Amino acid sequence: MTPPVDMDPPIAPPAGTLERWAFDYVTSASLDDKLSPPPLPRSDHDEAWEPSPPSRRTLRPGRPPTLVCVPKKPKTPTGRALLDPAKRARLLHVFLHHELQAAELFAWAMLTFVEAPRALRAGWLKLLLDEVRHMRLYDGELRRLGARFGDFPVRDWFWERVPACPSAASFLALVGVGLEGGNLDHGARFAAMLEEAGDPEAAAVERRIAFEEIAHVRFAVQWLDKLGVPLEGLADLEALLPPPLSPIVLRGRPLAREARLDAGVPLRLVEELDRYEETLRAPRASG
Ligand SMILES: [Fe+2]
Ligand SMILES: [Fe+2]
Repeated sequence: MTPPVDMDPPIAPPAGTLERWAFDYVTSASLDDKLSPPPLPRSDHDEAWEPSPPSRRTLRPGRPPTLVCVPKKPKTPTGRALLDPAKRARLLHVFLHHELQAAELFAWAMLTFVEAPRALRAGWLKLLLDEVRHMRLYDGELRRLGARFGDFPVRDWFWERVPACPSAASFLALVGVGLEGGNLDHGARFAAMLEEAGDPEAAAVERRIAFEEIAHVRFAVQWLDKLGVPLEGLADLEALLPPPLSPIVLRGRPLAREARLDAGVPLRLVEELDRYEETLRAPRASG
């Protein structure tokens, strides 16, 4: 039976529960709260969990007026533009905002897919805390470069797409395999660019975060397996994504094959993701 869907906007869960912590994290409009939330209540006893929670699917994030959200993606600086510290700050600001949306969306998933196993819902909160740590790493780099979170406009692109996921499996596929998998590709590429732009500190942060994201992709792959959801090739991944998303738009170039395999992504899926463009462009072998 599907759990009841809560009011729009959803009603806050009881104080002291993990659900309330997650709810407060998403709805807070303070960047300080987003970067330094209070400690999580302990998740290993029943009282920490809201009894029979409704699905809070309509929950959306709080944003302070200082964080300007725009409907169109601002240009991401790359290559030689990154020789300019202000452009590097702009780039790291984009990544910091990705981490924020990932953190919030793990809370959203925990509050929406309330019929998912408790271990999966608790796991999402652990990943959320990793994302908060990543936010702080980027925030430190921004400050070193003379900027602050909120100095540049952002786009809530993940929030525009992810709430269309109909199930926990779809969420795991889109966020874990799609977005975080893509981050393995983008992270390696941008770390190399930052290094080339003469900023080894920013490059080291980028590499470290890309490395830590391998465990997040692995989390999604393992949970899809535990839920009995097949993920062998591109067609399986495509079937799990809410339309009109395609795995191809979530992929970076070059594909971080080793990192993806290390995360447990099946070889066939990695190869199909990698080959996709070539398949499209290759002249037909026959006929
Ligand atoms: Fe992250
Ligand atoms: Fe992540």
